[in-house]
This record gives sequence, structure tokens and C-alpha cells, in this order.
Amino acid sequence: MITVAISGLGSRGKDTYAKCQHIFSDRMKIVAVADPIEEKVREVREEYQVDPALCFPSAEAMLQREKLADVMFICTQDRQHYGHAMKAMEKGYDLLLEKPISPSLEECRQIQETAERLGRKVVVCHVLRYTPFYQFLYRTVRSGEIGQVVAIQAIENVGYWHQAHSFVRGNWRNSQESSPMILQKSCHDMDILRWLSGQPCKRISSFGSLTYFRPENAPCGSAERCLACSEAVRRECPYDAEKIYITDEATGVQHGHTGWPANVLVSHPTEERVRAALQNGPYGRCVYRCDNDVVDHQVVNMEMADGSTISFTMCAFNQGGRSIKIMGTLGEIQGDMNQNTVTVMRFGEKPRTIDIRTLAQDFSGHGGGDNRLVEDLLDLIEGNGKGQALTSIDQSMESHYMAFAAEESRIHGGQVIDLMREA
Ligand SMILES: NC(=O)c1ccc[n+]([C@@H]2O[C@H](COP(=O)([O-])OP(=O)(O)OC[C@H]3O[C@@H](n4cnc5c(N)ncnc54)[C@H](O)[C@@H]3O)[C@@H](O)[C@H]2O)c1
Repeated sequence: MITVAISGLGSRGKDTYAKCQHIFSDRMKIVAVADPIEEKVREVREEYQVDPALCFPSAEAMLQREKLADVMFICTQDRQHYGHAMKAMEKGYDLLLEKPISPSLEECRQIQETAERLGRKVVVCHVLRYTPFYQFLYRTVRSGEIGQVVAIQAIENVGYWHQAHSFVRGNWRNSQESSPMILQKSCHDMDILRWLSGQPCKRISSFGSLTYFRPENAPCGSAERCLACSEAVRRECPYDAEKIYITDEATGVQHGHTGWPANVLVSHPTEERVRAALQNGPYGRCVYRCDNDVVDHQVVNMEMADGSTISFTMCAFNQGGRSIKIMGTLGEIQGDMNQNTVTVMRFGEKPRTIDIRTLAQDFSGHGGGDNRLVEDLLDLIEGNGKGQALTSIDQSMESHYMAFAAEESRIHGGQVIDLMREA
């Protein structure tokens, strides 16, 4: 039985990884938890029978004690990872570390060096590598079926309401408080593209900006908060918080959506509780009047070591979901993660379309990536020979270098950054 300490009981710590105890009940046991919000600690303590003596009001308090578990899940906010991860490794913990490793390149390097020096296993949560969708793409590319990969085109459709929720009103709206979009959200894409390509990135350039969610785009007659806005403006506004969190068929509590995103506003959402949160809390603010600065669209161009090229677009203005086209010398692959379909077209042959849902059963949590990531971590720590460590700190550092370089380029008007020289 692998014992787990969880630092940060939010969407990831409590609502995602703690639940893995139910799935892998014979392999993992949560023995210690930390979060300043008492209600969250109480819920986890009761649900997983955690000893009250090992429930702490902060990761700092938990880390004052000697090592309490085999592994610590670091699920606090981006700028807290470094302090918690460094201390935990010194105490002897292996880590499941949420991405980004840190918003500071120097801190990322220090975490990597410390893991190596102390011989700690550190798995970074690039969950996409574990999804049946990307696993299938990876196997198909490696099989040689489409020949040598020459170019990849990938789109991360963030989704209009997801952008408004997380990156305009929410926790990752301001890069000074959290991290830039390319590191926070698209480090997953940098990671997956580097992995699929099989090549290190040589040069990178990027453009992007915060185009739309700005005060000058606020409709005439709109108010500071959605619930105070005029009916006429709200009717036309897809970002109206009441629509997103209460009435929308795909996301609103009126339609039974009491998980994410509504449970970020309040625990155990009901219409009444959500309405109260919209009245006063950050998620009820007009999207044109927030303290946000992260981009709502960005393109990244990459030249890989073998001369192949990748173009990546992140954009807020769509329904959400990732898509990809991989072009090789003998054929192409088109994948749509929302549909969970992949079409492989070898030149001169009939295309074949694969419904990825027929290849696996669990597609919950990031297309099935969340639970498989934890399973792999358990394998790795058990040392049973099955653990792949697909997203070890060393692998993850590569995508972080790419993301930092892309942001550097974007800030400097698209300047080309030579990653080989930087290294
Ligand atoms: N891998 C992924 O796909 C993925 C997806 C979403 C978020 N994330 C990352 O996961 C991390 C957590 O995100 P989240 O959505 O769960 O955020 P969250 O805000 O829901 O959870 C963070 C929790 O940390 C707690 N906390 C604050 N200070 C603390 C302290 N000193 N000690 C212990 N706990 C403390 C907060 O009370 C909160 O419950 C972030 O770094 C985020 O970027 C990763």
C-alpha cells in the first residue's frame, strides 16, 4: 500500500487525485492532508478516514513534521509549488507535482537538480500523455505508418467559457499572480508536441496578445457585475456569468452541473449558493472589467532538431477541445480529441478512422489521463517494472524550456529564440 500526503485540496488535490483512492483502493491510502480551508480538510478526512492528527492547515505545517507518507501530491497554486516541492524532497518524499513546475525557470531548474541530487522520483502532471487519444497518436507515429514526420499543426481550443472562467475571472487570469498562459495551460501542448515529434526543439518564436477581454470592449450600458447588468446587454453576452454557471445547458447548475466549474465558486453548488457567489465573488465580474492580463490567443512556431516544424495555436474563441494534424512523408494523421477520433491516411490508400472510445473504457478526467497518470506513479513507486515515468521531471523540463522561450519571444515581438544555444 503506497501512502500519500496531499498538499492543497482544490480541484486537483481533492476533486481529482484524492478520488483515485476509490479506484486504486488496494494500492494507495491517503494518510495526511493540508489545506487552509477547514471544510475541504474535513470532507477529505471523513471520506478517506484520514487520522485527524495528520490533517494540517497548510503544507508548511505538514512539512514541519517528519516524513508522513511515501509520496506527496503537490496540488497548491503555481507560485507555491517551489517551496512545497523543495521542502518535501528534503524530507524524503517522492512527488506528484502539478504543472507548471514553477513560473520561474530558475526554480524549475532547482527542483530538477534537487530531485536528481536526492534521488527523488518526481512525476509532473502532464496528463495528456496518458490519454488513449495521444497514446494512439504516439504509437501510430512511432510505427512508421506515415513515414518521417515533417510538420505538425496543433490547435488548443480553450473554449470561450473556460477562458472566461479560468483566465479572465479566475485563478490564472493574471500572470504576476500565477503564470503566463503558455506555461500554465499550453505547457501540456508543448509537452505533447515534443513527445509526438520525438525531437528536441531547436528554435522557437511566438506572437499573441490579450485582444478581447479588456475594458474598451465592454458593451455600452454594461455593469461591473453580471447580476447588475442590463437585460439587453446580458441577452447578447455569451460570457454572462449567470448563463455560464446557472442556466447554460452544458455548464449550469440548473442542468445538474454541480462539478467543475461551479464547484470552484462554492463547494456543493446549488443555484442559491452559486447566485450568492456571483453577487460578491470574482466569478460574477464582468469579463471586460477584471484584473486579467494573460493572452486570449497565441501562436508558437517551432523548428525541431531534425528540421521538422510545428505550428501551435492557442485560442479562447471556440467551443473547446484539441485537434492535431501530423504530416509525414508517407501519409498524414488527423485527430480530434473532442470527438475522440483519429483518421490515418496513407498516401494512395483508403483512409481509416479510429474511434478511440473503442480502445479503452475510462475517459474521465482529461480524456482519461488523470487516473492513468496516478496509476503510473503507483507503478513507479512500487517499482513493479510497469511504471513508465512518461512525465518525469527531466521530460517535463523540456516542455518548460519551450514554454519559457515562447513567452520570451512573444514579449519581444516574435524574436526567434535559439534553444540549443540557450542550453
Ligand atoms: N494537470 C492539469 O491538467 C491541471 C489542471 C488544472 C490545474 N492544474 C494545476 O494544479 C494546481 C492546483 O490547481 P487547482 O485547480 O486544484 O487549484 P485550487 O485553487 O482549486 O486548489 C488549490 C488549493 O490549495 C490550497 N492552498 C492554498 N495555500 C495552501 C497552503 N499553504 N498549503 C496547502 N494548501 C494550500 C487552497 O486552499 C486550494 O484548496 C495549479 O498549479 C494548477 O496550475 C493542473
